[in-house]
Amino acid sequence: MSELVRLSLSLEAPLCDELERLVKETGCSNRSEFIRNLIREHLVNEEWGKSGDVVGTITLLYNHHQRELSEKLTALQHDLTDSILASTHIHLSHEICAEMIMVRGVPAKIKALADGMRLLRGVLHVSLSMSSTGESLH
Ligand code: NI
Repeated sequence: MSELVRLSLSLEAPLCDELERLVKETGCSNRSEFIRNLIREHLVNEEWGKSGDVVGTITLLYNHHQRELSEKLTALQHDLTDSILASTHIHLSHEICAEMIMVRGVPAKIKALADGMRLLRGVLHVSLSMSSTGESLH
């Protein structure tokens, strides 16, 4: 574990009240833990704006009765085999399927995959959860 550095910060009183509220609501044990998490969140966002290596999950909801949709979704994934780690398919109802696709690779390629899926007719929702390999978050 890295050496701990102590710092003090100045905040306007209303902002400090909000900080206290957020610390409580998020279940953080103290302000330091909350601020640590905020910084990591920013670092992950920054990673996704660069060209390095990131990790994430695409959650996809679609109607499998839509003509050729399953084939198109599969083809998109086969174009990016080096970025797809694993996927899970769940039949939610007679018509609706959900897929969770765990990805790792270059942010732009992963975003393009999610955007490509979103454009297909019959796709109801695509969400991209952006995470990290953790290398910069120690
Ligand atoms: Ni299904």
